[in-house]
Amino acid sequence: MAIRKILRYPDPKLRLVSKPVSDPASLRALVADMTETMYASKGAGLAAIQVGEPVRLFIIEAAVAGGKEEDPPVVFINPEIIWLSRERETNEEGCLSFPGIYVPVERALRARFRALDLDGKPFEAEGSDLFARAMQHELDHLDAKLLADYVGRIKRQLITRRLQREAEEEGASE
Ligand code: NI
Repeated sequence: MAIRKILRYPDPKLRLVSKPVSDPASLRALVADMTETMYASKGAGLAAIQVGEPVRLFIIEAAVAGGKEEDPPVVFINPEIIWLSRERETNEEGCLSFPGIYVPVERALRARFRALDLDGKPFEAEGSDLFARAMQHELDHLDAKLLADYVGRIKRQLITRRLQREAEEEGASE
């Protein structure tokens, strides 16, 4: 396992639409890396494209997904929305590709997803609140939709400048 570099907005790779997975078992090493990377950054979820792999895969931290904190993350391969509640909620949302930035995003309050696990077995996951929000957020990544798309043009420019400046400062201090 290895901690991977998380791509930050406005890295153009984050705008790639991820491709369907034909062999789920081939993703084991990538999932192990993503798990370690997500834990190291204390994220609630992580999409493969955030570590530069444009495949339809994301993971959600176990406690967020309704499990125990010590459980491994839930792995979603080729995820699809089966159902979204009509009831929606706006909440501040963060993203590991937008460090330190929080944006109000309206999402369905409850969601049911279908996906494959690492053995290629289909399963369904239903959640509300943070779990529902996390699944919808990570699916957005696979379709190249980002937090920056939920704000207006001016705020998007501010976010872009701030992240670029921080990336330059970090680069200069290395
Ligand atoms: Ni994200």
